[in-house]
Amino acid sequence: MRCRNRYPYFFMILIGLLMVPARLPADPFQISQFISPETCGECHSEIFHQWKGSMHSLSQKDPIYLSVSEYIRKGLIDRNEIAEAESCVKCHVPVGVVTGYPQKTSDDRKNIPEIANHGIQCDYCHSATHADKMYNNGLVLSPGNGEEDPGVKRGPFPDSESDFHESAFSEFHTGSEICGTCHNVKHVVYMTDLETTYEEWKRGPYNHKDPDKRITCQGCHMFQRPGIPATGSTERPKNKGVAADDGPVRDHIFTHYFVGGNGFVPGLFSDQTKSKMADDRLRNAATLSIETGKVKDGKLEIVITNTGAGHDLPTGLTDIRQMWLDIEIWDKHQKKQLYVSGKPDKDHYLPEGTIIYNTVFGDGKGNPVWNIAKAKEILSDKRIPPQQSVTETIPLPPGKWTELSVQVKLLYRSAPQKIVDQAAGKGKLILPIVTMASADQVIKRQQQ
Ligand code: HEC
Ligand code: HEC
Ligand code: HEC
Ligand code: HEC
Ligand code: HEC
Repeated sequence: MRCRNRYPYFFMILIGLLMVPARLPADPFQISQFISPETCGECHSEIFHQWKGSMHSLSQKDPIYLSVSEYIRKGLIDRNEIAEAESCVKCHVPVGVVTGYPQKTSDDRKNIPEIANHGIQCDYCHSATHADKMYNNGLVLSPGNGEEDPGVKRGPFPDSESDFHESAFSEFHTGSEICGTCHNVKHVVYMTDLETTYEEWKRGPYNHKDPDKRITCQGCHMFQRPGIPATGSTERPKNKGVAADDGPVRDHIFTHYFVGGNGFVPGLFSDQTKSKMADDRLRNAATLSIETGKVKDGKLEIVITNTGAGHDLPTGLTDIRQMWLDIEIWDKHQKKQLYVSGKPDKDHYLPEGTIIYNTVFGDGKGNPVWNIAKAKEILSDKRIPPQQSVTETIPLPPGKWTELSVQVKLLYRSAPQKIVDQAAGKGKLILPIVTMASADQVIKRQQQ
């Protein structure tokens, strides 16, 4: 008797347990709680103009992101792959995701609320209190209730006052973790490391044990401004000024351009300032030298050093980013090219055998894949950690030359042209190539 009566309880508990995930609020906030960046910009005009047109403000409008995310979702049938392909919005449209729309990448983009279209924005970052994990955007928020009751905006100042909103000092905003929780991307099911910028920084020399010597993400990226690339190999002077139009003058105001290597996309939105700043950053990231110590053994060495980046070079989407060597060796007297490597063809594709720094993902069976939804393993990973060098050995051309002229360039492009052609249509978007560093050397045949 008693035993039988327990069944209903058992089922009730079971049903209760099954209901728990469904009852947890999927969208913890209302869209009306978030304040438009334009409103913040009414008092923080300089910061607003820096942020506008940045890759953060464009994270949902970026045509490369839009076409790639659509392209990789197409034709998938495996649940795990679909789960990954649907997860992009978590970082690219974060305000939409925490307020209910969109929940997945394939949701109708036309229905995304106006504010959420502004990507990674003021009220999103300044409502964050901490991160509950250091990958796939673990930011925990405590926003206000819209313009009537804006709540607390958290930032670097202990003594900040505004008539509009409450302010609070937040240690979280002064460390790399607020960036790192999004700048570390894992496959949602396979847990493959897709982007590891924060991890690279964390194990590198800029993450000094002594907080006074530590250079955070902000220490480079939020010191940059036009003319001041603020990398590991250049000065990072303070930016004296005001945080709000009628605020007090302060020693340093963190800039909000959020420039990396991407100069192409800001340029599409007619922000030439940020395009130029991205080129500045790339040109102050690495050094290149040609070493002749092994010429008598018939070899040439090229040394590339990551002098400027706080993480690996390249970083981020290193399965897509291209950083490679363009090498030409000429017979100086015959004016004949004896060796060439890394020259794009007429379609702007890189030839086989190019010396390239990147990661290649695999499908779990050793076959390379570029669709990250299918990335189960890392097949190869060739990048340059911060303040470290790599050496490439090039065989000198055989033959009768007496003097060689060697020209080497370190080049950068945001993505292989082939992928952009596949995703956006052939020839629609031609990605520019930036020269990060270059070196020339004349080599004389040694007398035996
Ligand atoms: C990606 C997150 C992020 C976004 C987006 C963002 N901020 Fe910030 N902001 C920060 C961080 C982090 C700091 C403090 C940096 C530190 O202390 O190392 C900061 C600092 C500030 C400060 C203090 C003054 C200063 O710059 O040092 C103000 C004011 C501010 N932000 C306003 C804004 C406004 C307005 C916007 C939108 C136009 C905005 N922020 C967008 C992360 C962000
Ligand atoms: C009516 C003007 C006004 C508006 C609108 C406004 N702020 Fe502010 N905010 C200020 C002033 C003034 C300060 C104080 C500046 C200082 O102390 O140097 C400030 C300070 C801040 C700080 C620094 C807090 C700290 O303790 O470090 C942040 C972050 C910030 N605002 C973010 C925002 C965001 C995000 C928005 C939009 C949701 C916004 N503000 C809208 C006037 C405004
Ligand atoms: C010592 C200065 C320095 C520090 C610290 C630093 N960066 Fe960078 N960052 C650079 C330079 C230089 C580049 C340009 C070269 C490149 O693309 O890697 C760059 C590029 C980037 C890019 C663009 C990469 C690409 O090519 O797509 C991202 C994203 C980025 N940084 C994020 C971060 C984050 C997040 C942190 C903290 C975890 C950080 N950075 C710390 C200097 C720095
Ligand atoms: C909510 C997630 C999120 C947070 C928090 C965040 N980022 Fe980003 N960040 C992104 C995304 C997504 C992009 C790329 C947008 C695109 O390319 O379409 C990006 C782009 C960038 C770029 C430009 C990369 C390039 O290729 O040029 C830089 C630099 C950068 N972030 C630095 C930072 C720094 C510094 C912080 C911390 C103050 C930070 N980010 C915080 C998600 C985030
Ligand atoms: C955990 C946060 C996060 C998630 C989830 C995420 N991204 Fe990103 N995405 C970033 C960051 C950070 C960058 C900038 C890195 C850099 O510039 O190297 C970025 C940049 C990009 C870019 C480069 C855009 C350009 O203009 O060069 C593409 C394309 C992209 N993401 C596609 C996707 C797709 C597709 C998905 C879903 C399958 C996705 N992302 C999911 C954080 C994220």
